[in-house]
Amino acid sequence: MEIGRLSDSYSLLAKENGHWTNATQTSAVRPLSLTASRAVGGDTLAEQARLSMNFDFALLTGEDYRIVGKAAARLDSAEKIVISAAAYALCHLDNPPELTLELMNLLYEEALHLEAIGRLLGIDHATRPWIPEDRQGNWDLVRGCRSPLDSMVIEHCLYEGRGTIASAAGAWQLERAGVSPAAVAVMDAIALQEANHNVSGYRWLRLLDRGRPEDDAALARVVRRFLEVEPVPAPDGSDASRKKHFPFFLIQVYRDTGDFPLLKEHIVAASRNARRTGDAGVDPDELYRRSAEALAWCEAV
Ligand SMILES: [Fe+2]
Ligand SMILES: [Fe+2]
Repeated sequence: MEIGRLSDSYSLLAKENGHWTNATQTSAVRPLSLTASRAVGGDTLAEQARLSMNFDFALLTGEDYRIVGKAAARLDSAEKIVISAAAYALCHLDNPPELTLELMNLLYEEALHLEAIGRLLGIDHATRPWIPEDRQGNWDLVRGCRSPLDSMVIEHCLYEGRGTIASAAGAWQLERAGVSPAAVAVMDAIALQEANHNVSGYRWLRLLDRGRPEDDAALARVVRRFLEVEPVPAPDGSDASRKKHFPFFLIQVYRDTGDFPLLKEHIVAASRNARRTGDAGVDPDELYRRSAEALAWCEAV
């Protein structure tokens, strides 16, 4: 419990210092009927910060259940794998203390997402495989991580780069489909935190990368490993193609500039755009050019 509170305090401090996105700016739909969490003993700053997931929603029915069930069909397994990735990193990698605290916070937030999806869709997690067959490649990538840099790049720069767009676009789709505001608000809360996790990935990449040739080689190696499991489609301008090239666009922005505030700006803008339109809103020429450079670089190193 004390370690949990310590990790909360650290994460809040980081958020207050501007490392994270701003909840009120990113969330287009405000959570419903926010209630103070004192009833469950929640009077700390950290628990107040988590009010974004602490609102009233319940099992969906009828058309809402069908639409959300279809849109979120693979979401519970995505949450499970990232919970497992955080647990793996905590147990097996030599993390700086601050990263240990942050991983605990990430794990907790992903568990909140899983809990929320389970409540909306009435999923009994015990009856489903924790890591289904179609996530096995992702799990192998996690278990192949040898360093905190590997882990943060795989999960938080690359997978969460896709998750940032997918979750914000998911909220946009649900709203357009006219599902209940509670379900949209859950997706909004998830999308907000996924964008924060993506920002966190780049913050840690910036801290762990010392700019040495061996760091560049390590980054190239981990991006190559990711591509073996998650190949990118042709740059054909389709929604799926743009979404899957976006993480490599970010990697190239990192390589070109090393500018964490700029990366954060790109991630926040992409999340907001996807919430408004379903797309990250990056100019396609720029998106594909930078992505192609990242793909060529990692193969050449
Ligand atoms: Fe999540
Ligand atoms: Fe996440």
